[in-house]
Amino acid sequence: MPPTYINFSKAKIARLQTELLDWYQKTCRDLPWRTTKDPYCIWVSEVMLQQTQVKTVIPYYRNFIRLFPTVHNLAASDLQAVLKAWEGMGYYARARNLHKAAHMVVTTYQGKLPDTHQEIRKLPGIGDYIAAAVLSIAFRKPHAVVDGNVKRVLARLFCVKEAVNHPPSHKLFQGMATALLDRETPDRFNQAVMELGALVCKPDTPECDHCPLIAYCCAYIKNLISDYPKRVSSKHIPTYHIATGVILKNGRMLITQRKPDGLLGGLWEFPGGKVKNKESAIAACAREIKEETNIAIDIVEPIARINHAYTHFKIIMDVFYCRYRSGKIKLRGPVDHRWIQIEDIGKYPFPKANHKFFGKLKKMKKNFL
Ligand code: ADE
Repeated sequence: MPPTYINFSKAKIARLQTELLDWYQKTCRDLPWRTTKDPYCIWVSEVMLQQTQVKTVIPYYRNFIRLFPTVHNLAASDLQAVLKAWEGMGYYARARNLHKAAHMVVTTYQGKLPDTHQEIRKLPGIGDYIAAAVLSIAFRKPHAVVDGNVKRVLARLFCVKEAVNHPPSHKLFQGMATALLDRETPDRFNQAVMELGALVCKPDTPECDHCPLIAYCCAYIKNLISDYPKRVSSKHIPTYHIATGVILKNGRMLITQRKPDGLLGGLWEFPGGKVKNKESAIAACAREIKEETNIAIDIVEPIARINHAYTHFKIIMDVFYCRYRSGKIKLRGPVDHRWIQIEDIGKYPFPKANHKFFGKLKKMKKNFL
């Protein structure tokens, strides 16, 4: 069955492809992963780009390839070093899966990333998007990529009534993207659609005057650009109140490591946790530290209140300067701990919210002596 919405003739699709590819040729950004055909580098870039903006990714990508230039280097490295290189970019499961998949590529595929959809999808962290991006960009296989930018372009081009953020509509967009794909140059075509979404067909301020597809665009022709893409209203984002303690003992402070899976898995943090209803942040801090580490502390003074937004929730984090009082560390929840000097804090990967008060901690150094 032909995909719904696309009622263009083959000749019209061919003209659209040419216009888009010509525009891409003239306009495309000079990005570091566009000067390589190394499948490993393209894979790394696409994993980073899946949930992070291009301008944020550029320095992370450069640093990552400098530290782990080949899949062999990555497979042989320590997960902590990989998480450290990923620190601040979020969605750390991407880094953990990339590391695990690198092992599999070395052990099962002789260091060569598989070039078929069936094989590459077996690797952890490689879903339909990454598979299509790597197969098309690195191996020039005709797989259409569908990300948020691509969906927005298609939704406007064809006045798609289905919401772009409603999971059941994904198949529809995948079918449309596949129908439009230039199978001769899938590498450039896929990147051209993503580039159009990023630079011209932007969410709030599309620049239709600069769009190479203006003559084909249903939403533009009907003067309905602001009505597309359709979206279903997103769920309420809850806010959690967290209390954590920077606990001092003999000039060193206690950090604990989160369990390897789940949110922020494998990263380090100061012990603490959720403030309960009707509980004070100070009481929660002492209680959580006792529950997680078994030690008793005295709270000296507040250090900072941090607001931070994760994808599915927000936190308000109260951070207290605490002094160790008694007890022997016995972990419940965290998987490891260290008593570190402030100078060494940079050696451990921490969630982004923590970085917001590192500056203050360093200035408070006199208190640690
Ligand atoms: N977003 C996802 N993949 C991309 C790529 N290859 N170039 C630019 N932006 C992207």
